[in-house]
Amino acid sequence: MKLAQRPRRNRKSESLRHMVAETDLRVSQLVLPLFLCAGKEERQVIQSMPGIFRMSPDVLVSHVQEAVHLGIKSFDLFPALSDSFKDPYGKESLNPDGLLPTTLKRLRDKFPDITLISDVALDPYSSDGHDGVVRNGKIVNDETVEILAKMSIVHAQAGADIVSPSDMMDGRVGAIRDALDSEGFTDTGILSYSAKYASSFYGPFREALDSAPKFGDKKTYQMDYRNAREALREIELDESEGADMVMVKPALSYLDIISLVKSHTHLPVAAYNVSGEYGLIKAGAKAGIIDETRAMVETLYSIRRAGADVIFTYFAMPMAEWIRKNAT
Ligand code: PBG
Repeated sequence: MKLAQRPRRNRKSESLRHMVAETDLRVSQLVLPLFLCAGKEERQVIQSMPGIFRMSPDVLVSHVQEAVHLGIKSFDLFPALSDSFKDPYGKESLNPDGLLPTTLKRLRDKFPDITLISDVALDPYSSDGHDGVVRNGKIVNDETVEILAKMSIVHAQAGADIVSPSDMMDGRVGAIRDALDSEGFTDTGILSYSAKYASSFYGPFREALDSAPKFGDKKTYQMDYRNAREALREIELDESEGADMVMVKPALSYLDIISLVKSHTHLPVAAYNVSGEYGLIKAGAKAGIIDETRAMVETLYSIRRAGADVIFTYFAMPMAEWIRKNAT
């Protein structure tokens, strides 16, 4: 055949493919989410997330040490609390001696150079399993925002570099910025879960924290998966309220949203490769449907290619190992 254009020429060898590869992924772009539980020497299995554990603070410290050895620099903490610590207002979230703040302090002291991100939302502390205060079956916005702002101060005092509101209440980024600034925490950043969709892919996370909603669903605050332009509205609001980074969540069914958001904002864009996305690859590999490592690598590169600058992923440690061995 007489062909002027033969795209296969650029795929001829591995070195040539590396030369023209459009997407890079660095270990420092990965954030490892961590589930924390009370006690000592606790390492509890999460059925739907093989390889991920709830860890007591002592175990968590060694785990972070291991991750740091692999080059991981950023961590996001979620506390799993027993029911006795839960109430309708999530009061435990404001306890400076609670599980999350004390562990943040411990990590801050031991690892001064890592980036500590803390999740700001009521669900780990709420007896209703919602991200806000519930009144007459409704999740009330403004009262919740007041609590989230106070919670952010507790996390900043304990050493969080970045607070990360995952609740989807209106106006919380601005309220958190004001609260942090009024306490002198002008350097504490806000990574906002700006476009967080009401998703079936959060299931394993709710098992991890035992935080499934006691009634209804989260559709009055998390976004509808049929909407894309609405994501831009949320991003614009969070930007105007002072967010330092924005997030799209989940990642895989929302690669178009990541791409759209990237083209509309000058802020770093994060994407959360959520628990269900992790669990499905694990289960698929176990069932012999896919190769786990190849599926992990392809998935994380696809999220990066879509435009994510930062990726929250339970695969952070194996991916860091892969990048060390294979990235060029
Ligand atoms: C809740 C929260 C959720 C996740 C992070 N923060 C679940 C939810 O909104 O119900 C999900 C993370 C994951 O699935 O990995 N504030």
